Amino acid sequence: MCGIVGYVGLQLASEIILDGLSRLEYRGYDSAGIAVISEKGLLELRREVGKLRNLVKDVMTNPLKGNIGIGHTRWATHGRPTVFNAHPHSDESGKIVVVHNGIIENYMALKEELKKKYEFKSDTDTEVLAHLIKDNYSGDLYKAVHKALQKVHGAYAICVIHADHPDYMVAAKNSSPLIIGIGEGENFVASDVPAILNYTRDIIYLEDGEIAVVSAEKADVYNLAGEKLSKKVSKISWNIASAEKGGYEHFMLKEIHEQPSSVAHALAGRASDADGKLYLDDLGITAEYLNTVKRITILACGTSYYAGLVGKYYLEKLARIPVDVDLASEFRYREPFVDDKTLVIGISQSGETADTLAAIKMVKELGAKTIGILNVMGSAISRETTGNMYIHCGPEIGVASTKAFTSTIVCMYMLSLYFGQLNGTINAEEIRKNIVELKTLPNIIEKVFDIEPAIKVIANKLANYKHCLFLGRNYNFPIALEGALKLKELSYIHAEGYAAGEMKHGPIALIDKDMPVISIATESATYEKVISNMKEVKARDAIAIALATEGDTALKEEVDHIMYLPRVKEELSPIVNVVPLQLLAYYVSLRKGCDVDQPRNLAKSVTVE
Ligand code: G6P
Repeated sequence: MCGIVGYVGLQLASEIILDGLSRLEYRGYDSAGIAVISEKGLLELRREVGKLRNLVKDVMTNPLKGNIGIGHTRWATHGRPTVFNAHPHSDESGKIVVVHNGIIENYMALKEELKKKYEFKSDTDTEVLAHLIKDNYSGDLYKAVHKALQKVHGAYAICVIHADHPDYMVAAKNSSPLIIGIGEGENFVASDVPAILNYTRDIIYLEDGEIAVVSAEKADVYNLAGEKLSKKVSKISWNIASAEKGGYEHFMLKEIHEQPSSVAHALAGRASDADGKLYLDDLGITAEYLNTVKRITILACGTSYYAGLVGKYYLEKLARIPVDVDLASEFRYREPFVDDKTLVIGISQSGETADTLAAIKMVKELGAKTIGILNVMGSAISRETTGNMYIHCGPEIGVASTKAFTSTIVCMYMLSLYFGQLNGTINAEEIRKNIVELKTLPNIIEKVFDIEPAIKVIANKLANYKHCLFLGRNYNFPIALEGALKLKELSYIHAEGYAAGEMKHGPIALIDKDMPVISIATESATYEKVISNMKEVKARDAIAIALATEGDTALKEEVDHIMYLPRVKEELSPIVNVVPLQLLAYYVSLRKGCDVDQPRNLAKSVTVE
C-alpha cells in the first residue's frame, strides 16, 4: 500500500530515499514526502500531492543536505490526499518526524487526549504517533517510541527520526511489513525489498512487536519487553532489473508477456513427466493427514480469489475433496465451520493482504492446518502458515494482477494432482499425462501473443462503450469474473462477469446495442450452450465478441469479433483464456488514456481493511 524508506550513512540521504521511493511508488501514489536532518541539526520536511515526481522536482530545485532521513509514498486511508495529510508527520516542535504504513485503530481516542496538549494539523491517524512519541520523550527516542507503542492498537510499520539524534532512526512493526537493509557504513529501513536492492542485498526482516535502532554502523533490534534480539540477516538473490520495465511501455504489459516464463518457473522442479509424480513434499502434507481432511477452504481477495475459484474445480475433480472458496473479508466476520479436519489454503500474491492474513490467523486458532499459495517469500502470511507453495513469478509491479494469477492457477493444478497422488484418486499414468499437458502451457501462451494486433482492434472499439458483460462456464466462469475485473480496474468501464448459464436469470434484461458481450467459447463440454447464449445476444443487437479455439470457423457466423486461441485441454484453458482478456483490458485502458500501471484508487497490496 504505502511505501517507507529510511536512510542513515555517509551519502546524501535525499537521493537514496527518493530512489527507493520510486521503486515503491506502486504501493501508494497519491502523495509523497521526505524529511532530512541537515548538517546543522535542523529537520527539513518536504511534502507534495500527486506522483513522486512532484516531490523529486521540489528536492531538485531546492536540495536537501544531510545524511539521515525518512520518506514515504502514500495511499490515502485517513484524510484526503493533501499536503497536510502526506507523510512524514511531525510533532509540534518540528523535531520528531514519523512515516507510517497501516492503521492506528484507536487513534480517535488517543487524539482526543493529545488534542488537549498539542495542535493537530492533519486528518491522519499517523499524526497521533508523532505527538504521542513527543509526549513520551525525555531524551531517548527509542524509549519514547517503545512507550508510545504500548498505547497503540492497530497495524503499523513506522520509521522515526529526531533532530536532536542525527545519528539513528527508530523503526517498529506490527502487522505491516518492514525490513532493515544492512550496508557498509550505512543502513536502510524500508517497507519492501526493491526499495533498497540498489544498495544492499543483506536484509533483516522485522517481526511483529519488534523495535529497531538503526545507525550507520549497526542495527539493534529489541522485542516489546525491551530485550535485545539476535536477528538473522537474509541474502536477497533476485535482481533489481527483474523489477523494472525491461523495454515494455508498462509493467503490466511486461508482466503479461512474462507469462510463458513465469508459468514455466512455477512448474520447475515440481512436476516430473518422467515418473509421473508431483514433488511438493516441503508442504509438509502427508497421506495420513490428507486422509483426515474432510474439506478444504480457500481464502483470498481480488484476483487471488478468482484463482481460488478455479482451484475449487481442480481440487474437487482431481483430489475428490469438497472445497469452499471464500472472500477472506467475508469469512473472517462469519462464524465459519472450521476444525482440525479442515485444510485452509490462503492465496495471496503479496502475502500481505490484511483480510487474508487475519482470516489465516483466525483459522489457525480454530485448529485448521494452513497452506499459503504466495509470491513473496518472508511475507506476513508465509510466516503464519504451516506450509507454503510459492508461485515464483517474480515481483509483480503493475497494480492489476496478471502473471501472479496464471501462476497461481498452475500451482492450484499441481497441488490438486499432488493431493490426488497422495490419496490415490488419480493414478500415476493420468498424473503423467496431466504433467505433460501442463508443460505445454508456456509454448501455448506464447502463441496467444500472435493475436495481439487483433486484440488491439477490438479494444479500440470496446473503448467507446460504458458497459460490458463477460460470460463463461465451468472452469471459465472464474475467467469471466477476472476478465470483467481487469476491464473495470484498468479502463473504468462498468463490467460484469457472469456464469453463462445465469444469463437468462437477469443480465439478459440489460442486453442491447450498448452492452457488448464477451463470451468464452473455446472448446469445452459446454460449448454448444455458450453458442446459444451468443445467439441470444446477437438477437438483441449487442456486439458479440468471442474467445474461440483456432479452426472454429462456424462461430464466425454468430459473432462480430473473434479472438482465436491455440487448442488446450479444457481444464487448463483458464490459464490461456485469461491472457487475451488481460491484453484487451490493457489496450482499452491505453486507448482511453488511463493510468495502466496505477489505476485510480487502487493499490497493489491492501494491507488495511
Ligand atoms: C489488491 C490488488 C489486486 C489483488 C488483491 C489481492 O486489490 O489490486 O490485484 O488481486 O489486492 O492481493 P493479494 O496480494 O492478496 O493476492
